[in-house]
Amino acid sequence: MPLNTSAPVSSQLDPVWPAPAARSSRPDWSAYATAYDLLSEHNPAYQAILRDFEAFLATIDVPRVIYDVGGGSGNYTRIAAEACPDSEICLVEPDPGMIRLAQAKLARHRHVRYDPRPLEQIEAQGSADLIVCVHALYAMPDPGQRLDDLRRLLRPGGLLYLVDLGRLMNVTDWRSYLFAHLRREHGLLGALRIFWQGREIARQNQAILKAQKAGVYWTHSADEMAEAVRAAGFEVLRQQTVYRDYSDLLVCRARP
Ligand SMILES: C[S@@+](CC[C@H](N)C(=O)[O-])C[C@H]1O[C@@H](n2cnc3c(N)ncnc32)[C@H](O)[C@@H]1O
Repeated sequence: MPLNTSAPVSSQLDPVWPAPAARSSRPDWSAYATAYDLLSEHNPAYQAILRDFEAFLATIDVPRVIYDVGGGSGNYTRIAAEACPDSEICLVEPDPGMIRLAQAKLARHRHVRYDPRPLEQIEAQGSADLIVCVHALYAMPDPGQRLDDLRRLLRPGGLLYLVDLGRLMNVTDWRSYLFAHLRREHGLLGALRIFWQGREIARQNQAILKAQKAGVYWTHSADEMAEAVRAAGFEVLRQQTVYRDYSDLLVCRARP
């Protein structure tokens, strides 16, 4: 995985956190929410992570308490809710549009509760056996401290399934990838129709890129990600790049 070419080599392994002062412009997750599941359904790279998470769940002891942090429209919570019907599951999601979608989607799963606070306001300590946090950390204020929060939320030995967007979101590249896939699957007219329905996605991806370039959102190499996770008190059990190499997936264990 290439390191950031814009940073001097000596600093590439030190996490470079976004400046808090620069955090005023952000994508509008509520505007994204309505088109979000269209993206999830039609994006093979997204589906591959969902499948990986499902396969991962099948390899571990059933967690008693699961948190889905930055759980968005609830796609990972749904997998956990179906695989672990006796677990307590908490979906942490501060965006009202996203959490509404999740609540509607997961209404039949009575063992899921919803916390509309951002991670930084959750005070629970050592209560989770498993945390899933997918494509949300990069968008949070001070990701280094948020990793500390995730560590605090887990019991010692608890597991973190973490996926984070690290590289700059190349909107043109994603558009061509998705369009080529949709065209193969649904023909030209079908692809155009889905693109039109999901046009908000392109707008929000552009906003993510802008926030990344402005230093509002954290970008990182795979090595920087691993370094940050270890610094927060985790042991890395597995690491790979996913989401067409834009993101890093790490399965981690909370050190005692
Ligand atoms: C790209 S979505 C990912 C949703 C979901 N994890 C998935 O992969 O389908 C990122 C989510 O992170 C949430 N988020 C942003 N800042 C957060 C924070 N400080 N604490 C918790 N969630 C946050 C956003 O509201 C948004 O729904």
